[in-house]
Amino acid sequence: MNWSSLDWSALDRLRSQFLGGVTPSVPYWQSSADLATYDFTYGERIGWKWDAVLAELRLRRWLPSETGNLRVLDWGCGSGVAGRRVVKWLGVERVASLSVWDHSPIARRFAADKAQEAFPGLSIQEPPKSEAFCDLLVISHVLNELSAEAEVSLLASIAQAHAVLWVEPGTHSVARALQRHRNNLRSQFSIIAPCTHQADCGLLSAGNERHWCHHFAAPPAGVHADGNWVRFAQRAGIDLRSLPYSFLVLDRQAPFTALDPDHGPTARIIGRPDAFKPYVRLLGCESDGAHELTVMKRECPVLYKQLERARGPLLYRWQRNGDRIVAGQPCQP
Ligand SMILES: C[S@@+](CC[C@H](N)C(=O)[O-])C[C@H]1O[C@@H](n2cnc3c(N)ncnc32)[C@H](O)[C@@H]1O
Repeated sequence: MNWSSLDWSALDRLRSQFLGGVTPSVPYWQSSADLATYDFTYGERIGWKWDAVLAELRLRRWLPSETGNLRVLDWGCGSGVAGRRVVKWLGVERVASLSVWDHSPIARRFAADKAQEAFPGLSIQEPPKSEAFCDLLVISHVLNELSAEAEVSLLASIAQAHAVLWVEPGTHSVARALQRHRNNLRSQFSIIAPCTHQADCGLLSAGNERHWCHHFAAPPAGVHADGNWVRFAQRAGIDLRSLPYSFLVLDRQAPFTALDPDHGPTARIIGRPDAFKPYVRLLGCESDGAHELTVMKRECPVLYKQLERARGPLLYRWQRNGDRIVAGQPCQP
């Protein structure tokens, strides 16, 4: 697949599907060409979100526990971009098998073939049913397509998994749905990310309804100046500079470990900090809840500067005085 062989009419059809907001009752993939076109464009863009999530897991020094013998399942695989990103991140030698599940048999076949092509030595197993057991369950951009029945089936897969890597769009409704799943799954799993704590989700408390737990990934350098990507973005109605996502990483076996236990509690900035001349305003999430906080330029000039151009996982250690941050620094790898 390359830009000149891209099926633009298939992209337009997929765009209407994705923007339609209607739960599809039947699979919308019509051919493997649809999936190839998706994989090269929408799928690649989702891959950039996965790159951000997996980079954060490196920062957090987290890997699934049974790293010698992992059975990985990509649920709702589509073209299989998420499963392939995860296998690459783990290293193929750590993966006993990859299974791909989708209610579309065309997608299952495409994702399996593409993974085999990318990792010739990898064992690809067809899952016997949608709720197959696995060590590591990979879920990507499925929540807003699932019927109530399909969501129950996904939750049954989660109930059998040792660890879960789940990435979704960064929209208000999907991110808040993921927050609710996080709260419900808290008794069975340690929350590895995005949270820096195991307490109730602060954004679900009364008064925080307008907020949602989302983050921004950085697209690869040069994408905005690439004529093909620009044309795709215009056609798909996408802003190439903005890659909002929500995510959840769960581990049944690993106990929760604070990011940097020797240096006190850590916090996460939700969304992007807003920079004004005299201060930065941000929404910070910690074990005692989510708070709207300010960083005064004159009080914390270094932190102010960092926050003005903040990128990557916005994980910080800071001290607060009321709703002001009076000292702080980013968590380092
Ligand atoms: C937006 S695509 C995302 C594909 C892929 N996970 C990714 O991140 O690129 C959503 C996928 O979920 C699949 N899907 C929708 N409903 C499903 C269900 N009930 N069971 C399994 N897969 C489903 C669709 O066929 C489609 O491949």
